[in-house]
Amino acid sequence: MNDIAFLLNGTPVTVSGESPVRTLLDWLRETRGLTGTKEGCNEGDCGACTVMVTDDDGTRALNACILFLPQLHGKAVRTVEGLTGPKGEMHPVQSAMVENHGSQCGFCTPGFVMSMAAAQVNGATDHDDYLAGNLCRCTGYAPIVRAAEAVAGTPAPGWMAEDRGALDAAPAPCIPASSDELAHWYEAHPEATLIAGATDVGLWVTKQLRNLPEVAFLHGCRDLQRIETTPDGFRIGAGVSIAALRAAMSGPHPSFAELLRRFASEQVRRAATLGGNIANGSPIGDTPPALIAMDARLHLRRGDTRREIALEEFFLDYGRQDRARGEFVEAVTIPRSAPGLACYKLSKRFDQDISAVCGCFNLILKGSKIETARIAFGGMAGIPKRASAVEAALVGRDWTLATMTAALPAFAKDFTPMTDMRASAAYRLETAGNMLLRYFHERSGVVASVLEVEA
Ligand SMILES: Cc1cc2nc3c(=O)[nH]c(=O)nc-3n(C[C@H](O)[C@H](O)[C@H](O)COP(=O)(O)OP(=O)(O)OC[C@H]3O[C@@H](n4cnc5c(N)ncnc54)[C@H](O)[C@@H]3O)c2cc1C
Ligand code: FES
Ligand code: FES
Repeated sequence: MNDIAFLLNGTPVTVSGESPVRTLLDWLRETRGLTGTKEGCNEGDCGACTVMVTDDDGTRALNACILFLPQLHGKAVRTVEGLTGPKGEMHPVQSAMVENHGSQCGFCTPGFVMSMAAAQVNGATDHDDYLAGNLCRCTGYAPIVRAAEAVAGTPAPGWMAEDRGALDAAPAPCIPASSDELAHWYEAHPEATLIAGATDVGLWVTKQLRNLPEVAFLHGCRDLQRIETTPDGFRIGAGVSIAALRAAMSGPHPSFAELLRRFASEQVRRAATLGGNIANGSPIGDTPPALIAMDARLHLRRGDTRREIALEEFFLDYGRQDRARGEFVEAVTIPRSAPGLACYKLSKRFDQDISAVCGCFNLILKGSKIETARIAFGGMAGIPKRASAVEAALVGRDWTLATMTAALPAFAKDFTPMTDMRASAAYRLETAGNMLLRYFHERSGVVASVLEVEA
């Protein structure tokens, strides 16, 4: 592997001779002795390992346990050891944690303060949201949120702005700098593993202890990170992060954006990409059902050859996708609007949890009749899949509760879900039907969200 150069707590470092899938967390703790960054779950779930990463796109909190060293090339990393000022003065978020009694055993505290410091740089004040990826077992969240509130809206200390200025020092990358470069390299190295955000691949290394002999990092392909407006809608590059997608969708597709709010945590959303969420072929990925309900098209590229398919055709069977050797996901196109779209995610925990069932509905009505229906589910089969029998039971019928109820038995024709730790097969089937009823009620003006329950 070529040298990797980045700023670590303001000091340039060059890493050579390391495995390309060495995680930042292990490297910090084992090689640099920076043990302030903690290992809790080692799979992106607890936030104990949160660090700040700054590049041309700004500053974000990320999980060091599933961040590979090459992903940092040309960037600036700040760990909890680098949070204090030049004279050792505490960062305001650290003072706020002390003053508000936000720490007991302290194991989670470095991760919390890094998330808060990143939020302060970005002016984020939705504390519940940006702290959802940090778990605390003993203090309780109220004092921590009080600390976050105490610094909300205050400027980040001056020393936190130094990283961005010092970034120019990095030498040439060993990572494809454009999708053209990637296309030609991957065609010649079709056995390689592509790594975008590493929020899936990271776990292959940290949990499955897999060795990845040949890898390509996609984060240098800036042209894959664009969202373009086309005459018909949006073309979303495979490298667009879930966080950027969420922001872009909040206007045109609010229900999709709300679904993305529930996608993992701030740290994971900032790293994870749309392309990774599709290419991994997971039956419980959150974006495919919504995109399929919107009739999204998938754009694939191998060398100089491009092709376009309906997204639903990409998922062939569990673990099998319509992707040739050396072919990668370039983009997804979706319509500009889908006023009938509603996305429902059911998981055991509201934040930071994988879907048990994810149902996305997109019905077009004409007068009192259902003209078209696109309904897609995650968690109900080995792949993200359309509910074709349910759709057929709806199209051409009246938009009434009776029509919905009559369509419910069709779910069992479409799906034979499995029982696993997230849900039983029977629960999955029942809840999928309930989502259709919820869709009907909500679209008929009934408030169906139970998030804001008042006594
Ligand atoms: C704590 C935690 C919580 C999570 N919660 C959710 C959740 O709520 N909902 C959800 O859907 N997912 C969740 N995930 C899974 C993961 O974040 C997503 O699947 C994410 O979108 C993967 O994107 P990535 O860029 O990190 O992919 P990577 O890990 O980099 O890659 C994933 C796969 O896609 C391939 N790949 C990546 N980009 C391309 C491309 N352009 N072309 C071809 N192949 C490509 C890789 O080779 C690999 O096989 C969670 C993960 C963690 C660790
Ligand atoms: S150690 Fe738990 S998120 Fe990294
Ligand atoms: S202070 Fe102990 S886990 Fe948070």
